[in-house]
Amino acid sequence: MIPCCHRRRCLLLLLLVAFFALVSHFWLGSYTNIGLTGVFQGEPASLQDDVDHQGRLKQTTIPSDAHTHGFTVFEELYLRDGTLYIMTDNPDSFPPLSHILSQPGRRAAGVSLTPTDNEMQVINPADAEAILGDRVLRLSGFTVLLYEPEQFMNHYYHWWGEIVLGLWRVYSKLGTGLNGTITPLPFPARFIAPFVEESGWRDPASINGPIMRVAFPTTAVENGHYWQDLIEIEATVVFSRVIVVNRESAHLHPFSGLWYKMIAGTMNVTVPEGFWEPIRHSVLNNLLGYIPKFDAVSSKPVVTYITRQRRTLIHSHHRALVRELRKLRVEGICEVLVVRMEEMTLKQQIELAARTTIMLGVHGNGLTHQLWMTPSTKSTVIEIFIPTGYTFDYELLARNLGHRHYGIWNDTALTYPKGTTHKGVNFPPGFHGNDIPVQAETVTRIIRERLQQPSLSN
Ligand SMILES: *[C@@H]1O[C@H](CO)[C@@H](O)[C@H](O)[C@H]1NC(C)=O
Ligand SMILES: *[C@@H]1O[C@H](CO)[C@@H](O)[C@H](O)[C@H]1NC(C)=O
Ligand SMILES: *[C@@H]1O[C@H](CO)[C@@H](O)[C@H](O)[C@H]1NC(C)=O
Repeated sequence: MIPCCHRRRCLLLLLLVAFFALVSHFWLGSYTNIGLTGVFQGEPASLQDDVDHQGRLKQTTIPSDAHTHGFTVFEELYLRDGTLYIMTDNPDSFPPLSHILSQPGRRAAGVSLTPTDNEMQVINPADAEAILGDRVLRLSGFTVLLYEPEQFMNHYYHWWGEIVLGLWRVYSKLGTGLNGTITPLPFPARFIAPFVEESGWRDPASINGPIMRVAFPTTAVENGHYWQDLIEIEATVVFSRVIVVNRESAHLHPFSGLWYKMIAGTMNVTVPEGFWEPIRHSVLNNLLGYIPKFDAVSSKPVVTYITRQRRTLIHSHHRALVRELRKLRVEGICEVLVVRMEEMTLKQQIELAARTTIMLGVHGNGLTHQLWMTPSTKSTVIEIFIPTGYTFDYELLARNLGHRHYGIWNDTALTYPKGTTHKGVNFPPGFHGNDIPVQAETVTRIIRERLQQPSLSN
C-alpha cells in the first residue's frame, strides 16, 4: 500500500512540475514577444513617414490646386483636440479660412458661422512642435471630412448630388493630366462627419446608406463619437490626404449667387468629362454585377417618366403626356416606362436609371437618379416646372454628368448650351403644387429631336 501511494505521489509531483514548467515557458515567452513587437512596431516606421529630412513634421499643402469654396483637398493636415491646423511657412498660398470651413452650426438667417480658432488655425513650422508635439497618429489614405451639421445631409439629393458629386469633382483635379485625361484615384478610406450623431446622415427613403456601401464597399462612415475618440487620446492626428467639405463656405463662392447651389463653385474647377464614371461604375458593378450598355441593334432607347405623389402635373395633362409617349413607342422610337420610384426596390430604381437615355419628370428628388444614367450624346434630363419657376438642382447635376438638360414651362422648352445657363431662380406660387401644366407635344418634340438626330451633342 505505502510504496504504491508513494509512487503515485511522486508521479503527481512530477506532473505538476512539468505543468508549471510548460506554463511558465509559454507565458513568459509570449509575454516577452508581445513586449518586443510592441516597441518595434510603433515608433521608428511611422516617425520616418511623418517628418521631413530634417526630422520636422511635414508642412501642409493643397495638391494640384484642388480647392474651391467649401471643398479643399489637403495633404498633411493636422488635428489636435478638435482643432485643425495648417502648418506652413507660406500662409499666403492658402485661401482664407472662411472659404474652407465655418463653425459647424446650423444655417439660419442672421446667424454668423465665420470660423474661429476653434475650428482651424494656420501655424508656422517654428511653432508646430510646441502646439502639436513631435509625434503624430497618421490616418493614411484619403479621408472625407464633412465639416458641417447633418442639417443638409439626410437627403438623397444633398448627399449624393451635392456632397459626394462636388467633392469627387474637386478631388478629380488630382488625377487630371495636362492633356485632359484622368487617371483613376483611390477611393476614400473613410468619411468622418464629426457633428453628426449616429445615423444622422441617412435619408428617410434609405437611399444614401445602401448606395455608399456599393459605391465604396470598404469605406467607413464615422460620426461624432469617432471625433470624440480622437480628442480623448490627447494625440495629434495627421491626415495624409483629406478633403474638407463645408456647405457654408461653398455658398460664399460668387457662382453661388448665380445658381444658389452648394456645388456652384465646383463648376469652376476644370476636370475632364467622365470624372464621375469611376463612382457610377462601382455602384453598378457592385449592385447589379454589370454596367448596362445601350445596344442600338437589339433594343430601343429607354424614356423613363418618373411620376410623383406630391408636386404633380394637372391630372389630365399627365394622362395626355402618357398617351403621347405611348405613340412614340408605337412608332418604334423608344421604349417608354412610366414609374413611381417609391414602389420599386432601390436596386430596381438604379438599374432602371442606368438603362435610361431620357429621364423625364416634374422637378423633384427622383431626378437625382440621373447620377447612374450612361452619359452620351443623347442622354437627356427633361424637368417640368410651373411656368416661370426655376431652380438649378438638376441642371447642375446634368452639366456635371454630361446629360443635356431641358426645363419645360408648359409649352416652352428651355435649354442652354455649354458655357451658358438659365438666369435666376424663381419659386412662384404653385411651384410645389399639384396643378402644373404641360403640353405633351412640347415634351415629345424634344424626345424625337434627341433620339432621332445623331449629330446632337450634350
Ligand atoms: C496624358 O498624360 C498622362 C500623365 O499626365 C499620361 O499618363 C497619359 O499617358 C497621357 N495620355 C495621352 C493620351 O497622351
Ligand atoms: C475660376 O477659376 C479661375 C482659374 O482657376 C480663377 O482665376 C477664377 O477666379 C475663378 N472664378 C471664380 C468666380 O472663382
Ligand atoms: C399652356 O400652353 C397652351 C398652349 O400654348 C396654352 O393654351 C395655355 O394657356 C398654357 N397654359 C398655361 C397655364 O400657361
